[in-house]
Amino acid sequence: MAEVIVLETPAEAGTFVAAHIAAQVRREPAFTLGVATGSTPLPVYEGLRAERDAGTDFTRMSAFALDEYVGLPAGHPESYRAVVDREVTEPLGLDPARVHVPDGSAAGIETAGERYEAAIEAHGGVDLQLLGIGRTGHLGFNEPGSSFGSLTRVKTLTERTRLDNARFFDSLDEVPIHCVTQGLGTILRARHLVLLAFGESKAEALAAAVEGPVSASMPGSAIQLHQRVTVVVDTAAASQLRFADYYRWAQDHKPEWQGI
Ligand code: F6R
Repeated sequence: MAEVIVLETPAEAGTFVAAHIAAQVRREPAFTLGVATGSTPLPVYEGLRAERDAGTDFTRMSAFALDEYVGLPAGHPESYRAVVDREVTEPLGLDPARVHVPDGSAAGIETAGERYEAAIEAHGGVDLQLLGIGRTGHLGFNEPGSSFGSLTRVKTLTERTRLDNARFFDSLDEVPIHCVTQGLGTILRARHLVLLAFGESKAEALAAAVEGPVSASMPGSAIQLHQRVTVVVDTAAASQLRFADYYRWAQDHKPEWQGI
């Protein structure tokens, strides 16, 4: 079962996860971070900037993004390439050549998945993959029904996800219908998964992912198949977890030598 850490606020969770990543980077500067986009990972990126200010050198770190919209004009501020550049690459001083985002441009879209898989493989994989969860239960943009063995490919977003993401655009019509996303099989190859969830609106999907049956109908439940998963949530997102008391008990009695 995943280790579940319940903290009071997203800011506290961000600081906690960033401290762990920074410690890994100090030990292994060529660390590879799998980055997510959307609102959830922002407190982690803020925490990483604080770690940079406190002296951690991230400049040799590599990054692989989970997904990208298909067909947004190059340089669109809500393309995930632009978001990753703004939140991670530039502030942490990463070499842009070491920051990878799936290619969502229309030209060559048929091979975008294969090319991204090859890049991850040639690099030697991802050390720690940050994940958010959608209200549909998606990880990356693997909507319900996605195969647990799936690799990076073009997927169709659900209307629920398009509505949820419309807040980043001027209108719903601007939200792309397609995306290129790492598959669940790709995500499961990362050496450590860190799933974050904040707020009441994620409580149901989170509980289903962490404690519900393993099912393609709930893509988030794929994490139950991974040997090293840390789930870091705030109290609102934890509100439907059946074993929340046990998770808190385990944290209170965690051996000091044991990291996450
Ligand atoms: C983002 C991603 C998605 C989001 C999810 C939650 O790269 O792959 O799975 O993590 O849609 O989005 P937020 O964090 O905006 O609630």
